[in-house]
Amino acid sequence: MRKIVVSGGRSLKGKVKISGAKNASLAIMCAALMADKPVVLDNIPYISDVKIMIEIIGTMGAEIRWLDSDVLYIKPPETISQDAPYEKVKKLRASNLLLGPLLAKYGRASVALPGGCNIGVRPMDLHFKGLAGMGAEIRLERGFVIGTADRLTGARVYLDFPSVGATENIMMAACLAEGQTIIENVAKEPEIVDLANFLNAMGAKVRGAGTDVIKIEGKSELNQCQRYSVIPDRIEAGTYMVAAAATRGDVLLENVIPKHLEPLIAKLREAKVEIEESEDSLRVKAAGPLAPVDIKTLPYPGFPTDMQSQMMVLLTTVPGTSVIVENIFENRFQVADELKRLGAKIKVEGRMAVIEGVPELQGAHVKATDLRAGAALLIAGLMARGETHISNPQYILRGYQDFESKLNSLGACVKSVTLE
Ligand code: EPZ
Repeated sequence: MRKIVVSGGRSLKGKVKISGAKNASLAIMCAALMADKPVVLDNIPYISDVKIMIEIIGTMGAEIRWLDSDVLYIKPPETISQDAPYEKVKKLRASNLLLGPLLAKYGRASVALPGGCNIGVRPMDLHFKGLAGMGAEIRLERGFVIGTADRLTGARVYLDFPSVGATENIMMAACLAEGQTIIENVAKEPEIVDLANFLNAMGAKVRGAGTDVIKIEGKSELNQCQRYSVIPDRIEAGTYMVAAAATRGDVLLENVIPKHLEPLIAKLREAKVEIEESEDSLRVKAAGPLAPVDIKTLPYPGFPTDMQSQMMVLLTTVPGTSVIVENIFENRFQVADELKRLGAKIKVEGRMAVIEGVPELQGAHVKATDLRAGAALLIAGLMARGETHISNPQYILRGYQDFESKLNSLGACVKSVTLE
């Protein structure tokens, strides 16, 4: 068993290169299966979620391998040799994004019903409603989602909630359906736009990604794309921005798209963090006292839920009262209990957390409960006086490439140790 040990009280200084977006990469890897020829993907992060997706896609008969440290080669199979292995798809919720592509290209799909996780129930009703509306037959059997369809037909789909995954599954399926599909009340995250750009590079006709309505003209095949580069990870970038502010440091982030970070930049500036924007980089400085802020998580372009835990940590030592309302997931305040072990003053009532600033955090033994909670505890360890020991570090490895070396190159003292 391993854990991370962080020696706190050091300001982060220097520059860090942001890796490719986990959530865009996972969707685009699934979409690549719809191509009729091999695809090369650039800027794919070397993280455990991507490695699991590689294993899953490989067991289904695709030829998939790294051509370089962040370059992935995917040659889709003629037919699906076997279903995605249960023990692997259970580990990766994003494997549910195989449903739309496999149904559309191969006429059948069998993926494990991704159970709830630590942040919420995570149902798939909107995915099923959209795919069924396009003529797919969806049934649940022994923990699997089994889908079949001779040929999907275009449909008009309204999403009760702008679900990222449902938007992605339905958009991908529609690219090989017969006729036009209109999806309303869709998610507008940058990862949706990146997926749409990749689908269009493969020869699809997707219009409106990034707005409330996406229109897709179905094609009979997708065989144009050879190479595509994935956008930078706005959540990894946001995490380093908050770490820089929380340690009162001065950090330059390279390989970012500032526009994707607008809601976070606005909130950090409100908290009196200095941020300088340029075309593909951001400089984050925090020297003086910060100000308390109120945060409500919302679908993009609102404040991202994936940055909520990290902001909670920053606010634990900001004098005054800050309030966070989590509107996306029903159980995403678990990190608060761990932060209290470090001396934070946080009161959680349902979807609301009230944070009273304390002078400083004290290092302690804590445990990560999910990916972003783990990242938040890393930031807390950087801020705290003394050593913080974080167990379950595997959660952090899911979404943060080389986080240990990236943080230590900024002056942190983070090391992973193996417990006897
Ligand atoms: C994606 O998850 C991201 N994961 C999540 O990032 C992110 O937090 C989330 O979008 C919201 O931005 C990937 O892209 C791989 P949703 P997803 O469907 O698609 C409800 C991370 O840390 N809902 O937008 O699963 C659902 O219960 C991860 O990188 C339904 O009710 O999120 C939730 O309350 C965590 N029915 C809300 O919508 C459905 O059919 C948002 O879920 C689908 C979703």
